[in-house]
Amino acid sequence: MLAETLEAGRKFTDSALERLLPGSDERPSSIHRAMRHSVFAGGKRIRPILCIEAGRAIAGGVPDGIEDVGAALEMLHTYSLIHDDLPALDNDDLRRGRPTCHKVFGEATAILAGDALQTHAYQVLSQLHCSAEARVRIIEEIARGTGTINGMIGGQVVDLEAEHKKPDNETLEYIHRSKTAALITASVVSGGIYAGASDEQVEYLRRYGQAIGLAFQIVDDILDVTQTSEQLGKTAGKDIASEKATYPALFGIEKSRQKAASLLHSASQALEQIQGRGNVLRALAQFLIEREK
Ligand code: IPE
Ligand code: IPE
Ligand code: MG
Ligand code: MG
Ligand code: MG
Repeated sequence: MLAETLEAGRKFTDSALERLLPGSDERPSSIHRAMRHSVFAGGKRIRPILCIEAGRAIAGGVPDGIEDVGAALEMLHTYSLIHDDLPALDNDDLRRGRPTCHKVFGEATAILAGDALQTHAYQVLSQLHCSAEARVRIIEEIARGTGTINGMIGGQVVDLEAEHKKPDNETLEYIHRSKTAALITASVVSGGIYAGASDEQVEYLRRYGQAIGLAFQIVDDILDVTQTSEQLGKTAGKDIASEKATYPALFGIEKSRQKAASLLHSASQALEQIQGRGNVLRALAQFLIEREK
């Protein structure tokens, strides 16, 4: 049942991305090939799927055109991965089972491909098929979620600054909420806004997104320790080597698992408030905690 939702969401997202991204032959083709190399390397498409399922939970069916919101979210997420892998940041050679963007196309093109995915995402968002008010609110949510104040870039900055130091609990939570949970929360909330959620519903979705977003990064940290590079499609053991601020480093694997489980419980509680339609979102939250890659 959930496997079908994941598969359908992935296909829906991939065909929107195929339609919305410039073709590889479009001039200048080097950057379009670089963008497509990283986007179509086979990500889980979790953020688009969360966006679409939040929309379905609110509207009772999948709202027309919501896949374009999902595609824009995936462009932004892929930009963050391209930049995260650069030598100046995490310096990684493997991503989504392929050599990283800078390994194939060089650093200059990889930096620009990340930038281009970001600007293209906002072009797509500016053309969404919803009311002008919803469009502007979605753009604001996503821009905040990826910005410097409690957003993705802010979290990436503190993640880098925390390397080779023993983090305190508060800093670690700040990093994870900002670098990862903020964009996941924006994905859920923007799906809700696209579907016409009330202010109250948006707040329940936000609480759900914040809980699963933090749990998602805790599980990412756990998988870095427990899985192989082959299983993950990215370099395993990387966080230990760079002495990153992670939940397993601070609390150990078992306590980290407990923390993720308790966040799953909080996420489920937030869903109780959206009356009967939260089952798929609940199952997705569980999948994110139990995932193996
Ligand atoms: C990896 O995200 C980076 C984090 C924020 C933890 P995903 O685990 O969603 O990566 P893909 O998109 O499936 O490759
Ligand atoms: C990435 O965190 C968060 C981003 C905003 C990209 P990580 O550095 O742990 O992600 P992976 O493990 O390289 O995918
Ligand atoms: Mg990183
Ligand atoms: Mg990394
Ligand atoms: Mg990681």
